[in-house]
Amino acid sequence: MKLWGGRFTKETNQLVEAFNASILFDQQLAEEDIAGSLAHVAMLGRCGIIAKEEAEQIKEGLITIRERIRRGEIEFRIEDEDIHMNIERLLIEEIGPVGGKLHTGRSRNDQAQVDFHLYVRRQTVQMVELLVALQEALLSQAREHVDTILSGYTHLQKAQPVRLAHHLIAYVSMFERDIERLIDSYKRVDLCPLGAGAMAGTTFPIDRHDVAEQLGFARLYDNSMDAVSDRDYVVEFLAHSSLIMVHLSRLAEELILWSSDEFRYIELDDAFCTGSSMMPQKKNPDIPELVRGKSGRVIGHLMGILTTIKGLPLTYNKDLQEDKEGLFDTVHTLQGSLQLMAQMIATMTVNKKRMASGAESGFTNATDLADYLVNKGLPFREAHEVVGRLVLHCIQEKKTLNACSLSEFQQFSSLVEEDIFKAISLEQVVEARKSYGGTARVQVEATWKRKQKQIEAAKVWLHEKSQS
Ligand code: ARG
Repeated sequence: MKLWGGRFTKETNQLVEAFNASILFDQQLAEEDIAGSLAHVAMLGRCGIIAKEEAEQIKEGLITIRERIRRGEIEFRIEDEDIHMNIERLLIEEIGPVGGKLHTGRSRNDQAQVDFHLYVRRQTVQMVELLVALQEALLSQAREHVDTILSGYTHLQKAQPVRLAHHLIAYVSMFERDIERLIDSYKRVDLCPLGAGAMAGTTFPIDRHDVAEQLGFARLYDNSMDAVSDRDYVVEFLAHSSLIMVHLSRLAEELILWSSDEFRYIELDDAFCTGSSMMPQKKNPDIPELVRGKSGRVIGHLMGILTTIKGLPLTYNKDLQEDKEGLFDTVHTLQGSLQLMAQMIATMTVNKKRMASGAESGFTNATDLADYLVNKGLPFREAHEVVGRLVLHCIQEKKTLNACSLSEFQQFSSLVEEDIFKAISLEQVVEARKSYGGTARVQVEATWKRKQKQIEAAKVWLHEKSQS
């Protein structure tokens, strides 16, 4: 007999049973569902909607069921459709008909929402935690590599030399924005939908503030129709997650590229690579490749939920049950990706010599030669032209700019003097970029400290949220 069986004259079609049920995935919300029910029933007792003793009995029953679920003793039933009705059925089996009073003044529409809000809220905190750990791994490699110079690239062509620390901190900044976004959207998850009923509110004298307070929600949805139909928080979580995956994917791409034989800038630890079943020499960067690959499914889940909700009339529609699997999969994917990326960054070894020699070729100091001429009074556009011709000369002669003699330089511009050699040396080229946010040591160290402060602030936020 279904919990909603009264109005029906036929058994449910077998295919419908399986197609309609969400228990196979929403059983992951068991803890949240019971937490929501415990708050609801305590309020029902306090407001005199059910007797105090009944509320107490239901509470005990729910706690027993929670224990049994934790011990793995419960087999959920597909005929009970979802986690909400499975637990209600178990409760009635456990304590008898009084268990049927739990659902007073509540609908599965607001119940499903409260469960998912609790879940997404917790995952938002966890995601910030994992992002901070990744930032710390990047920052500690950055501290080791202030003096490691490599070429920066534009168009994947050598551009200008930078400190490796500078390059790594660029990623710390991306993840800082990800953290900001999660902290901001947390406010919109931290909203209690319970008490909206099916969609219009309830006739019982409930106290929604009591429930919200018990569950640690900062605010309540102030419109019952919005409360049951809003999935913006799911969209936001998936959008932030998609961008995190895009950032991870860009980082993964560089790890893959940098560990190739053509670059040999880094070597990933053996523990994070795999071999080939045929080619004995191979050491493949499968993990960064998978991170890059998995960004596709997370972006797909974002598109999925947007498409699911775009045409829905108010309020609850069964389509909304589709909000869960994509989000669960996203959480799972991000957890693995963030943790592994942090560990790969922490354990990779850097080939400093190879990086430096890469920065010495490719005319990465050409801009500095132009800037040198500008300092001697030549307009930048003319300096650019002179250096362009010098570079062409060097390409034909198969030499670097540094290898030119003073008289060679002077054939192109009489402004060049003996001090040119220092001005275009690798160290000087890096150190000269002292503009705010540039790659000179003083700027890199200042940025490093700012990122450290941001991490401290994120940890304070995490501490606050783990208390509540
Ligand atoms: N399993 C449903 C979901 O996840 C719960 C709400 C169902 N409500 C309903 N009236 N059928 O969305």
